[in-house]
Amino acid sequence: MELNRKFIEDMIREQSNMPLEENDAIRRFDACPKIFFGADALDYLLGLPKDKTIVITDPYMVKSGTVAEITSRLAQNRIEHVVFSEVEPDPSIETVAAGLQVIFREKPGTVIALGGGSAIDATKAMLYFCIRLKSGLMEKQYVRRPMFVAIPTTSGTGSEVTSYAVISDRRQGVKIPLRHRSMIPAVAILDPHFTRTLPADMVAYTGMDVLTHAIEAYVSPGGNDFTGMFAVEAAGITLRCLPALHRNAGDSDMREKMYSASTMAGLAFTNSGLGLCHGIAHTLGAQYHIPHGKANAVALPYVILFNAGLGPHRRSGVRARYAQMARKLGMRAADDTELCRMMVLTARILCEQFGIPTSLADCGVPEAAFYGDMAQNIDKILEDACTKANPLEVNREDLRALLDDIYRGVLTVFKK
Ligand SMILES: NC(=O)c1ccc[n+]([C@@H]2O[C@H](COP(=O)([O-])OP(=O)(O)OC[C@H]3O[C@@H](n4cnc5c(N)ncnc54)[C@H](O)[C@@H]3O)[C@@H](O)[C@H]2O)c1
Ligand SMILES: [Fe+2]
Repeated sequence: MELNRKFIEDMIREQSNMPLEENDAIRRFDACPKIFFGADALDYLLGLPKDKTIVITDPYMVKSGTVAEITSRLAQNRIEHVVFSEVEPDPSIETVAAGLQVIFREKPGTVIALGGGSAIDATKAMLYFCIRLKSGLMEKQYVRRPMFVAIPTTSGTGSEVTSYAVISDRRQGVKIPLRHRSMIPAVAILDPHFTRTLPADMVAYTGMDVLTHAIEAYVSPGGNDFTGMFAVEAAGITLRCLPALHRNAGDSDMREKMYSASTMAGLAFTNSGLGLCHGIAHTLGAQYHIPHGKANAVALPYVILFNAGLGPHRRSGVRARYAQMARKLGMRAADDTELCRMMVLTARILCEQFGIPTSLADCGVPEAAFYGDMAQNIDKILEDACTKANPLEVNREDLRALLDDIYRGVLTVFKK
């Protein structure tokens, strides 16, 4: 069936702006995908059902021969397959619509997402809107959901286990976080050799994304004992292993550890929610084309400082949760305030160690554009679903002061 592309794009644009996730009265923890990990994990594909399969990925995965590692196994298993390799970083509504057309045309029984968060998120959105469209066209019992396998190549977004997908509306210059349980993959394959080609800056950015997921999940009002356990373990591994992996991308033990940490942080935040740091990263990342993990890394120390109620123009904050996490990570200090400062400094020191800029000015964001965009950026951050899940409510004045600090690199960690 051929569907009109413009019709699909409009549908995605319209529906993305509505809250997708149903509200639950009962608390729950989803640990959905089956996770296959380790050096032989990819051989899971040899046992896939014989249904037609689509591999959704980005152009680098084709060029680097990574897709061939998947398709050769499909061929070995005599599975008919097609490859859609047009996903760009921060996938757009237009890309989701293009992939959705291919899914409608090919009618796959299995869909494999291969790549970083962008390829996996684009696949999630394609599948979500595919089911929505089909449900409008035929009776529910005839709507078949393809089996969804995710193979991450970054460590990472944790997208292989989350109900989130972030797509970009380039017309509006915004990133839209979508959330629906039906987007959680059925299977995640973690074969650490896929991350061996990540350049050092991407190792740092994606690793700082893991740390941000873990910290935001831990302090989130939606957090619980289960999410806390995964968040602390993910943060602990990141603090121990990311610097070594950044120094030596060839260290396969560190690579495997960061891969697990990424998935664990994903399990934490998909069940608890994220927070203001992601609200800021989505907005500034889309506006100034800053990679997602880098935007989080720059903002994280400032957001911890703000949420903990430290610094000159801060009101009271939520210090105890950060302090509790710090203790579980082995930090020791006289009181909660000092522990929060240690968390802020830890995030900041990691940025410096990885050569990540510590201000937006140092990211190359032009001053006139930044201050000219301020009101509009504040609107977008306040609208972002992650900001709404922040443990501390934020208003326009808070955000103006916070963004000003992040732009100029003013981290007043030792002032009352
Ligand atoms: N769904 C979620 O839960 C979630 C969480 C956080 C972020 N995100 C989103 O994920 C996206 C970022 O994903 P990402 O950080 O994984 O990067 P990415 O998928 O955008 O990839 C960035 C670049 O790295 C390349 N790349 C990927 N793997 C590689 C490898 N092994 N070797 C060499 N190059 C490789 C890609 O080809 C691409 O050019 C953003 O759009 C962000 O908003 C989603
Ligand atoms: Fe993230």
